[in-house]
Amino acid sequence: MRVFIAGVDGYLGWSLAMYLARRGHEVGGCDLYLRRDWVAEMGSQSATPIKRMTDRLEAFKDNFGRNLEFKKGDLCDYNFVLNSFKAFQPEAIVHLGEMPSAPYSMMDVDHCRFTMVNNLMGTLNILYAMKETCRDAQLVKLGTMGEYGTPNLDIPEGYFTIEYRGRTDTLPFPRQANSWYHQTKVHDSNNVMMACRLWGLRSTDIMQGVVFGTRIDEMGDDERLVTRFDFDQCFGTAINRYCAEAVIGHPLSPYGLGHQLRGFLPLRDSMQCMTLAIEHPPKEGECRVFNQFEEVYDLSELAQKVKKVAGTLGLNVEVKNVENPRKEQEKHYYNPDHKHLLDLGYKPSHDIETEMKVMLTDLLRYKDRIEARREALVPDIRWDGTRRRVAFLDQKA
Ligand SMILES: NC(=O)c1ccc[n+]([C@@H]2O[C@H](COP(=O)([O-])OP(=O)(O)OC[C@H]3O[C@@H](n4cnc5c(N)ncnc54)[C@H](O)[C@@H]3O)[C@@H](O)[C@H]2O)c1
Repeated sequence: MRVFIAGVDGYLGWSLAMYLARRGHEVGGCDLYLRRDWVAEMGSQSATPIKRMTDRLEAFKDNFGRNLEFKKGDLCDYNFVLNSFKAFQPEAIVHLGEMPSAPYSMMDVDHCRFTMVNNLMGTLNILYAMKETCRDAQLVKLGTMGEYGTPNLDIPEGYFTIEYRGRTDTLPFPRQANSWYHQTKVHDSNNVMMACRLWGLRSTDIMQGVVFGTRIDEMGDDERLVTRFDFDQCFGTAINRYCAEAVIGHPLSPYGLGHQLRGFLPLRDSMQCMTLAIEHPPKEGECRVFNQFEEVYDLSELAQKVKKVAGTLGLNVEVKNVENPRKEQEKHYYNPDHKHLLDLGYKPSHDIETEMKVMLTDLLRYKDRIEARREALVPDIRWDGTRRRVAFLDQKA
């Protein structure tokens, strides 16, 4: 299949390109290298030393025996998107090309506006360019489990059937985002749903849990193929940050009470799930929703698991909760469905502790790169719009 990855230079995008190539798909993609700039803006760097795109493309050809048809450009530029699709003629488009950080979007009005414009315009351009050039292609659009928020109800996969005043209908399940970034995903979901309804496009809207991991098997031992791995307050996510903290002896730092519940999945499973969606497209006009995660975990429980696995590698780390810079429920009900991908054949790869051991072993090689940006680990972006470094809870006056 011909698969175009929007955002192919990113954490998931670069991994997916290799995963698909290994399975015989033709891969194309675009990026504007924005993630590299955002992480630098946060005073940080990828723990893994990622290569420039020219070196990545050469390594791709050497390892997979085919070219990745790459174009540098902005998804917010409609002509760029249109011409990319005309040239590549995709059968599937995987849209990963958005600004993916909640704290980055909450920093101030400029970062909020940038996130809204970048994410919403890019998606609208993709929808219009699909309508013009490849109406039968499938869109695999990355959303997030964070779109649903934490309602005191079970969370279905996108839609639920509800009875109200004696009438019954199947409707989108309410979304209640808790950051401007998550809100862009909610708006995107509505826009994608409407494009499917009005124009007959087909889409899989993936509500993805938090991804963790340093590698997929396709990277092998070629260092030019490593994907990025961020640990700073904006672009590092829970388990990835805990593992980075562990290798430099920084306390693992759950936010607040630390009993927030979230769905997680390893990088290799994220690849498996997106590929299942790509290879089993929806019907014309269908906008289906998959909740994509392996298991729900409590954030403190995860920190304890990282501590335990780090101990087996001789790393002695402690868990110390910090003030929560976010506004979110710290203890809540959470029971989302995740059946659709299992029905398509999703098989979770490793148990979580095995994956953590792989991560910690990989990260120990890059310990100096994390140590050099230690300051970037400590959050100071708060949901009330101020910037103040968080304190450990046991040190708070
Ligand atoms: N990583 C996770 O844990 C996770 C969880 C849930 C959802 N997601 C979603 O999956 C997608 C990919 O996530 P990721 O972790 O790989 O993020 P990433 O930032 O590493 O990748 C996104 C890529 O898109 C590019 N991009 C952004 N805006 C662009 C534009 N206007 N034009 C061209 N390129 C642009 C960036 O430069 C970057 O390389 C995002 O939409 C994210 O919201 C990720």
